[in-house]
Amino acid sequence: DAGKSGYDHYMLKEIYEQPKAIRQCLRERVHELEGSVTVDELAELECGGPVQFVACGTSYHAALYGARLLRERGIPAQCFLASEYDVESIPVTKETVVVGVTQSGETADTVSALRAANRTGATTLALTNVVGSSAARECDHVMYIRAGPEIGVAATKTFASQQVALAMLSRVLSEECSTEFVEGLRDLPDQVQRVLDGSTVRAVAEAYEDANAYFFIGRGYNAPVALEGALKMKEITYKHAEGFAAGELKHGPLALVTEKTPVFALLTGSNISKTLGNVKEVEARDAPVVAVTDSPDEVGQYADYVLEVPEAGPWFTPILANIQLQLVSYWVANRMGRSIDKPRNLAKSVTVE
Ligand code: G6P
Repeated sequence: DAGKSGYDHYMLKEIYEQPKAIRQCLRERVHELEGSVTVDELAELECGGPVQFVACGTSYHAALYGARLLRERGIPAQCFLASEYDVESIPVTKETVVVGVTQSGETADTVSALRAANRTGATTLALTNVVGSSAARECDHVMYIRAGPEIGVAATKTFASQQVALAMLSRVLSEECSTEFVEGLRDLPDQVQRVLDGSTVRAVAEAYEDANAYFFIGRGYNAPVALEGALKMKEITYKHAEGFAAGELKHGPLALVTEKTPVFALLTGSNISKTLGNVKEVEARDAPVVAVTDSPDEVGQYADYVLEVPEAGPWFTPILANIQLQLVSYWVANRMGRSIDKPRNLAKSVTVE
């Protein structure tokens, strides 16, 4: 218990450690005066070809976010679940850079995908938290996310650190970085702190503890956050939760929406109006709506609850929104008396394929 620093669970402690984790990840990599991002470990990395991410679980959601950032910079990037990465059926060449996103560096599916990539002659990069892990040892390059040890089985601070590391990687690979991007990264730890200090999620957890299921919707950079919000909810509450790219709601999941299925809508940035369209669809089926938003004035009238985040631009607001969702899952699980740090049937690191 001493290691929990007064928190009831490691998970909550680790959620609150996120400003520090992000600061550590950024240290000596973001240069405000020069307006640049550098990662010393990657000085020798050359990227002339497409990038393929391989990852599992929460790390896969971080990879989806990272791939989108690369594509936005004009770098072709794809994401694969590590267990589905089959070099026989995927075009991998010597120019391909295969990035394994893995907190532990020991996930069997991810390590195996990286080994297969190594055999093809592609360049491999491990993005990991653990120095000397299998992924770190076996890849051509390694970038550490520096989150510090994570004890809770459900990944929290390491997800935020992976997102930040991937944001930096996108600028290292594209060799171009705007002042806006550098300032966004610089301000992130303080903005995360603001979310933690101001969060009102406990009322939401209390209101929807008895729900049948929880849905999470988001677009663009918020789509992976919707997936992650649902995964976290499943892992620690054992309740049915699903995340969707908001536009997919009407292609099936809408059939499941009732007054007993709260919908968490990620309403940040420039595509709020489209996602609001989806919110109206679920409201028409009497579903409660929780808006996670940087624009409470615009969306408040459509929501039963509003969880506010500071405006941090398209790349970084989703990182803040995810923190609200981590807290919602934590407080629902806490009210239900779940084994939050060690959920049934789950392991921190899965070392079998
Ligand atoms: C396990 C953990 C998840 C984690 C996944 C991938 O399933 O319970 O929290 O996201 O492994 O782990 P990795 O160490 O590769 O990021």
